[in-house]
Formats: sequence, structure tokens, C-alpha cells
Amino acid sequence: MTHSAERPLTAMIDPAAGPPDCATYEHNGGWQATRQTIGQRPPAEVIDIVTRSRLRGRGGAGFGTGQKWSFVPKEPASGRRKYLIANADEMEPGTFKDRLLLEGNPLQLIEGMILAAYGVQAGHGIIFLRGEYHLACARLHHAIGEAREQGWLGENILGSGFSFDIHVHSSAGRYICGEETALLTALEGRRATPRSKPPFPQTGGLWGAPSVVNNVETLCNLPHIITNGPEWFAGLGLGEDGGTKIYGVSGRVMKPGAWELPIGTPLRQIIEEHAGGMRPGYRLRALLPGGASTAFLDATALDVAMDYGSVEKAGSRLGTGMAIILDDRTCPIGMIRNLEHFFAQESCGWCTPCRDGLPWVERLLDAIEDGTGQAEDMDQLGRHARMLGAPGRTFCAHAPGAMAPLASGLKLFAADFAAHIQHGRCPQQPGT
Ligand SMILES: Cc1cc2nc3c(=O)[nH]c(=O)nc-3n(C[C@H](O)[C@H](O)[C@H](O)COP(=O)(O)O)c2cc1C
Ligand code: SF4
Repeated sequence: MTHSAERPLTAMIDPAAGPPDCATYEHNGGWQATRQTIGQRPPAEVIDIVTRSRLRGRGGAGFGTGQKWSFVPKEPASGRRKYLIANADEMEPGTFKDRLLLEGNPLQLIEGMILAAYGVQAGHGIIFLRGEYHLACARLHHAIGEAREQGWLGENILGSGFSFDIHVHSSAGRYICGEETALLTALEGRRATPRSKPPFPQTGGLWGAPSVVNNVETLCNLPHIITNGPEWFAGLGLGEDGGTKIYGVSGRVMKPGAWELPIGTPLRQIIEEHAGGMRPGYRLRALLPGGASTAFLDATALDVAMDYGSVEKAGSRLGTGMAIILDDRTCPIGMIRNLEHFFAQESCGWCTPCRDGLPWVERLLDAIEDGTGQAEDMDQLGRHARMLGAPGRTFCAHAPGAMAPLASGLKLFAADFAAHIQHGRCPQQPGT
């Protein structure tokens, strides 16, 4: 059983009471880290603490947070402009963890942003928010206003000479806007297409200025790391990685939802204990462990620890840590078709293999699921999965992410594909 000190991210979240105001936040330990840090320790020490905490980015790629910040040029905020951007675009199908944090305790994100900005000496903060998150938007505006009124944001915070403020930008509601370089292009008011790297955002980001883009969950960890120390945070993880993780499960389980648990908690514990196991009459067949753009694992992988290294070793990715379950009464081809429909629709169209390849995949899957597929279609699907799935063939990770469920599904569900083609119908569709 975890107690609140071991659930730092969600300890102050109470859906019935709504988000804490500044006074309640402070009463429960908030703002301590800001007081201990701003003007009290050199910015480089903040980067060092975060590096030692073994925090890895929670947006999907899992890059070391302290290491990422260390690439930002060191001159202070009063020199060249620098930006700190919270990526709150959350559009990965199956993922809703950032929404919990944004709606439940926006001050925690604001404090995390102040600490990150101080570490890299950024004077300007932007929350790039998914357009559909209306409640989060209202709560963020309210919390920013309160924090500004009380001197936590704005000029000369705590009389330290450090100034930082935050602006909320509601995004256009396209999946690609969450990719960090497309996000920067969108913020500049242009069509949201990714950019080549280098230059990396840390040196040449928004308007060419040094910029750090971090996920909401990543930033929310910072007040706790500073208050309790990097060793405490590293010790919360069950394996190599530090901290807790908001894990979630969707699909035909008893209690779909999200829970903050030590990073490295085994899948079995998340699904059976926290999600309450499968609903009566359904068996777990496979799952996408970290959202729609991760590879399927089958039911034999339940003892895998949900940390970056272990999930990769098992053949998939931790991604956002939000698992999507495939049960034995749902057609896997139908599920993959739905996912590829989403990915094809969300391609930004910048590079040909992704723009033209994803609709091809979608059409082939439509035909197979509808009973008009041919045996040759399997070769075509395999070729697309290999071509689009290989890193470096497309401008960004959208296409490789889109191919993860397909490539793994072609292997795991080969018999289902064959049955559809052989019998000219979906065996799991009633009346066909
Ligand atoms: C197509 C695509 C969509 C993405 N969407 C998001 C998103 O909504 N939120 C997010 O934090 N990261 C998203 N990412 C990952 C970001 O590019 C980036 O790695 C992340 O924001 C970095 O933050 P972190 O280091 O704290 O994880 C996406 C990546 C790709 C390729
Ligand atoms: S891979 Fe797809 S989403 Fe990414 S840049 Fe190319 S066309 Fe756009």
C-alpha cells in the first residue's frame, strides 16, 4: 500500500474538492521547493539534482530530464530570450494522465515550470494545451492568476532578481502538434510541421531561441524532487528509473482508470490489482503497454516491469505508460484498423511515405476486415510496416509510432489475418 509521500504527484488531487488554491497548496507542502531554490542555489545545482534523481521524460521518448536541460546555453535570462514549454497536448489514444494533473492540481505544474525555468534560466513559460481540454484551461488560467497575484510569477520572484511568467496557448487539436518541433512551429503561427534536428530545441527552438519542451507529468515531479532530494526520488522507482509513474488501463477491465505507482510496477499488478482484472466473460489476449503508438505484447508479458528498459526488452515501449487492453472477443484486425485510421488522419502530410503510406495501410486493413482482402495484401502490409517503421525514413516519429501496433500485430495475430482472408469475413462479426 502506498501512502501520500509515495504518491507525490496525486497526493493533493481530490476530484470532489477541486484543485487546491494557493493557501491550501502551501499548507500541504507546496511552494517549499520554490522558496528553497529561487535565488537560494545556483541554477546549475537544480540541473544536477534533477539529473541525480534519474527522472526520465514522461512524454513518451523517455529522455533524461536533467541531461536534456544541460544542453541549454548557460547565459542568464536577461541575455538572450529562453523559453520553457509544458507539453500539454495529450492526444495519444488511450492516454489521459496529463489531464488528471492539469485539472487536479494546476499549481503543481506551475511550480514545476518555475523550477525548470530557473534551472535553465528561462524567462518565458508557455503551456501548450490540447484545445479540447476546456476545464483544464479554465483551472490553469485561474491558478496562474492567483500565483501571479501572490508573487510566485512575474517580475523579481521572491526578490531574487529572477523573473518568469506563464502564458497558456490552446492548440489546434491535431496529434502532430504534440511532437516537440511541430509544437514550436505551431507556436510561431505556422502550419504544424515537424522540423529537422539539429538544431535541437535546447539551442534553436521557438523563434530560434533556446527552448525546453517537457511533458506535464515530467514537470509536475520537480517540486517533489527539490523538496525531498534526488536520492528519495530515485529510491521511489523499483528498478533503474526514478520516481513514480501515472499508469492507466483502458479496455474491458473491471475498473478502467489511472493510478500513481512506483515506476517499474509489473503489468500484472497494474491490471489485476488496480484495474480489477478483466470483466467476467473476457480474457486478456494482448495489450499496448504505453498508448496507441507502442507494439502489442501478448498475455505472457504480464510479469514485465513497467519501466523503460524492461518494456523495451520485452519488445515494446513504455510510451506514456497508459495500457490499452485487447480482449479475446474483440477482433484484433478491427482494433488495428481503428488505430491506423487515426494515424492516417493525423499525418501532417509533410513527407510522402507517411502521407501516402498510412492511407494505403488503412485501405488494406479495411479490405481484410470487411472480407475482401487478398493473400498478397499481407506482403503489402509487411512491406509498409518495415519501410515506415524504420527510424529515419520519415521526418518525425509519427510514422514509426503508427507502425508499432501493425508490425507487432502482423506477427501476433497472423492466424486472424489468415482466417479473414481465407473465409472472406471477420470471424468475430456477428451475422457474417
Ligand atoms: C506524433 C507525436 C506526438 C506527440 N505528442 C506528445 C504529447 O501530446 N505530449 C507530450 O508530452 N509529448 C508528445 N510527444 C513527444 C514530444 O515530441 C517530446 O518528446 C516530449 O514532449 C518531451 O518531453 P519529456 O522529455 O518531458 O518527455 C509526441 C511525439 C510525437 C512523435
Ligand atoms: S512522419 Fe508523418 S507526421 Fe511526421 S513529418 Fe512526416 S508526414 Fe508529418
